[in-house]
Amino acid sequence: MISKTEKSQKLYERARRVLVEGVNSPSRGGEFYKPGPIFIDHGQGGKVYDVDGNAYIDLMLGFSALVLGHAHPEIIAALERAGNKGTHYAAAAEIEVKVAERMCELIPSAEKVRFANSGTEATMAAIRLARGYTGRKKFIKFEGQYHGWYDAFLVNCHARPAYTLGTRKDPVSIPDSSGLTSASLADTIMAPWNDIDIVEEKIRQYKGQIAAVITEPIMSNIGFIPPRPGYLKDLRQITSENDILLIMDEVVTGFRYAPGGCQEYFDILPDISTFGKAMGAGIPIGAVVGKDDIMQAFSWGQVLHYGTFNATRLAMEIVDTNIDVLTRDGNAGIQHLHAIGDTLIAGLKEIFERRGVPGIVQGFGPMFQLYFTQKESIEDFRDYCSEVDTDKYSRFAHELFKRGVYSTVSNGLHSIACMAHTDEDVAGVLNAADDALASL
Ligand SMILES: Cc1ncc(COP(=O)(O)O)c(C=O)c1O
Repeated sequence: MISKTEKSQKLYERARRVLVEGVNSPSRGGEFYKPGPIFIDHGQGGKVYDVDGNAYIDLMLGFSALVLGHAHPEIIAALERAGNKGTHYAAAAEIEVKVAERMCELIPSAEKVRFANSGTEATMAAIRLARGYTGRKKFIKFEGQYHGWYDAFLVNCHARPAYTLGTRKDPVSIPDSSGLTSASLADTIMAPWNDIDIVEEKIRQYKGQIAAVITEPIMSNIGFIPPRPGYLKDLRQITSENDILLIMDEVVTGFRYAPGGCQEYFDILPDISTFGKAMGAGIPIGAVVGKDDIMQAFSWGQVLHYGTFNATRLAMEIVDTNIDVLTRDGNAGIQHLHAIGDTLIAGLKEIFERRGVPGIVQGFGPMFQLYFTQKESIEDFRDYCSEVDTDKYSRFAHELFKRGVYSTVSNGLHSIACMAHTDEDVAGVLNAADDALASL
């Protein structure tokens, strides 16, 4: 059991003097972590080590970016290669061509690629591209989905009391932030996910005005909510029939479920897709990919997308190496993520059942989340807001910390398997979870 966190607590005091809430993104701070964040000293493989010398099996993995785990030797070598050649030129370089070629080979819908530096940059560019290409301004965004912190997306992302949600057909839109203008949200149309009839109605209601529907293929910012069978195909069909672009936000699912992301896994061809997180194996990266004629609208004088740091040598060396590691030996790396995740999910389900705890584990392959709920499944934002005991989940995650497992403390995120996780790590997580459940 971990009981020593004095150094983390001291650092937290020091951090709060110079950093807002002591951190650089609110989801890492004291609102979520009690009595404060654990300060990490280093990561190695599937584990992180804090400043007090405690080791944790890492299921959070840099908000899911570290698909290979920490300090992978080939990534370290790629970093060194980039360092020796100069990390960034902001000029054309062969490596960006090579990585784009590999992405076009791997990702079913990718005919052209544009690199960016984060998931937010990618999704923001994707919406502008869709608007520029179609000449229409509105887009459909689903309740509970998060596509980054661009103004037009910041509505109905955060869970809130069920009585504030409005009806399914007419969701009450509540911005997630101060500092937004009403104009920035005026063209964001809200709809509940996993309900094709309502998308159809919205398309009828806003006929001729909608540029795109943007969706995560698996809802991963309200835990883990899979698409209902056929839902993504229906979305594809209805958008095609109405000449609306389908943007698949694969920032979380890309380079994880399959080499070509969830679009390969579920066999759907979106018009535009966005990537980030696992693509960079721990360094900042983003990408927009899509059909050639649509992507051409990024040409000079059309849809503007700039970036001093787009496609740095550093990022390109790492993405190139990451693709090598994930796909060699018949995608053995990706298969390992699935095997580790599926074993964890089965083990956790068994523990819930054996202990008779009202709760479920949702997920398959590399990602999953637990919900303390009486329901048999959580299928959208509304289920999550009304049926899930998120406080209990947070207590459970804090109990896991004490037992050497670093998972997300927010029920709205998810646990992640990485290539460095071993059978021993799986056993460690399951033992800790069993004990943590008993202590609640
Ligand atoms: C689905 C999805 N899209 C986009 C983003 C934004 O990515 P970033 O945090 O790299 O800006 C996130 C971040 O969590 C995400 O979950």
